[in-house]
Amino acid sequence: ETNKRIHADGKPISPNLFGVFFEDLSYAADGGLYAELIQNRSFEYAPDDRKDWQPFTAWEYLTKGYGYGTVSVETREPVHPNNPHYIVLKVEDAGQEGVGLINYGFDGIVIRTGEKYNFSIFTRLISGQSMPLSIQLRSKKGDVYGEVTVTADTKEWNKYSAVIEATHNDDSAVLAITAKDKGTLAIDMVSLIPDKTFHGRVNGMRSDLGQAIADLKPAFMRFPGGCLVHGDGLENMYRWKNTIGPVEQRKEQRNIWNYHQSVGLGYFEYFQFCEDIGAKPLPVVPAAVSCQNSGGTWKIGGTGQRGLPMDEMPDYITEVLDLIEYANGPVTSTWGAKRAAAGHPASFHLEFLGIGNEDKQTPEFRERFKLIYDVVKSKHPEITIIGTVGPSPAGEDYELGWKFANENALPMVDEHYYEKPEWFLANTGRYDNYDRKKTKVYLGEYASWGNTLFNALAEAVYMTSLERNGDVVNMASYAPLLARMGHTSWNPNLIYFTGTEVTLTPNYYVQQLFSNNKGDIYYPDIVSFKGTNVAASCVKDSKTGDLILKLVNGGEATVQAQADLSGFRSLNRDATLTFLSGRNEAKENVVPVKTVLRLEKRFTYNMTPHSLSVIRIKSK
Ligand code: AHR
Repeated sequence: ETNKRIHADGKPISPNLFGVFFEDLSYAADGGLYAELIQNRSFEYAPDDRKDWQPFTAWEYLTKGYGYGTVSVETREPVHPNNPHYIVLKVEDAGQEGVGLINYGFDGIVIRTGEKYNFSIFTRLISGQSMPLSIQLRSKKGDVYGEVTVTADTKEWNKYSAVIEATHNDDSAVLAITAKDKGTLAIDMVSLIPDKTFHGRVNGMRSDLGQAIADLKPAFMRFPGGCLVHGDGLENMYRWKNTIGPVEQRKEQRNIWNYHQSVGLGYFEYFQFCEDIGAKPLPVVPAAVSCQNSGGTWKIGGTGQRGLPMDEMPDYITEVLDLIEYANGPVTSTWGAKRAAAGHPASFHLEFLGIGNEDKQTPEFRERFKLIYDVVKSKHPEITIIGTVGPSPAGEDYELGWKFANENALPMVDEHYYEKPEWFLANTGRYDNYDRKKTKVYLGEYASWGNTLFNALAEAVYMTSLERNGDVVNMASYAPLLARMGHTSWNPNLIYFTGTEVTLTPNYYVQQLFSNNKGDIYYPDIVSFKGTNVAASCVKDSKTGDLILKLVNGGEATVQAQADLSGFRSLNRDATLTFLSGRNEAKENVVPVKTVLRLEKRFTYNMTPHSLSVIRIKSK
């Protein structure tokens, strides 16, 4: 009886509630998740990326040992028209130690003794019959920590590959390519990728970062942004077709965050990574307009929001439809065949598609959005389309965006907000009165301003309200996900890293505890307490039958909570408690600790100050 009552009281929670937001900012892709160790491998860096960058950035010309020659950047007859720049190394006299190039990687190249590194290079002989190249891992001082020789011997572009085993540990090694004979050689696409990548993928992801994301067990992953999606000018929009196929044929471009996108981590790799971590892919495509903030102080080279010319819209809409075919179409379809050729004949099971990011609700945007939306909706009713309602609920585009969404019966819209922790604590009622029959919410970007435990707990308090409203908030992702220390374009982030280390923030552990302990039914009124900055939720995971209580105390005083589980029949008395606690201002060394609890059906739990407790009770 009681059980029935409780079940009737339970509210459904979206199965996709907690996911991740990946944007290539703060070196999240190149120099981050993407395992490539060579920076500017294609010599495509340009002053457009950053004022002080050019095709030779991160490289050095090496003439040690009294050899001489020249090095130049050329563009005639490149590997591929999408990849126009390459280096010509002209060796007049190789001297004792050869003449060549050094690459410094991203803040140095990290190598580990006994580990193997997959090296590859494209070359074209301009003069001479062959040119042996010595490829060395070196310390910055010049000690050799691994070496192979490849011999360039074709007058057409050709790819050469070799495996180098490191003989030492070095956190800031370099890669040296030296020619020991006279001759002239064109060089492009110099790559060094650890043999050990996440899930062992060729052209894969860094293992430790991939694992840190996988450990969140995200229900979905949004990519590739953020502002990166719409870019700061039409020429800067992220066009997915530029990012697939052989890496040397991809079209690189300026990154809106003041660096460069090699797109070595492109749409195929995004889809594959999603599959590897068990997350549903959520790509976001531009709504055929560029960012309204272009030309603002935080972006370079912007031209202001502009829409694609209307006569280009039919092709653009086809581009969006082709993406769906690339992800899900049969191998006999044009784009499904390309996916298969890349090594994945099976569908990527795309269910969601975002159109636009924080775009201003201008006539230009709306007209183009609607054109794309109407076609995708009619041709692919199986895809949930997600619209956008501006950068903040306080902005004018929010109300306009919601009105537009409801008028056009959008299935879901993407809300964003970055606020003080106090805002999150004070706004837990935000979704309680949203209209359940209308457009659903994807809270695509949110974070409180900071990485202290207090920030994380404010987010945890708020996340209990997302669970409570898991019928209307269908998806939520903290943003941004990754940032390379020393190269952050945005703070705070969920995970910080260097070439050697991965730092998980208190905010990360909160996300992890919620995501790893998700439920599909929410039960109100199971836990009662009195206090401020305190919250609790009770959810059930129907797959395991487990009941999960989350108790958050972001305040300074211990709060006594009463839990009444008497309405649930078949619960075990044994439970696990995962406890996250520390000083309010702590940013590091805040790690969850697991213990075992024995519970009565009714029990009192002391929520200690600055803590999140997750109690997981198994069903019998
Ligand atoms: O997450 C950082 C940025 O914040 C995103 O690129 C953008 O969508 C938002 O303004």
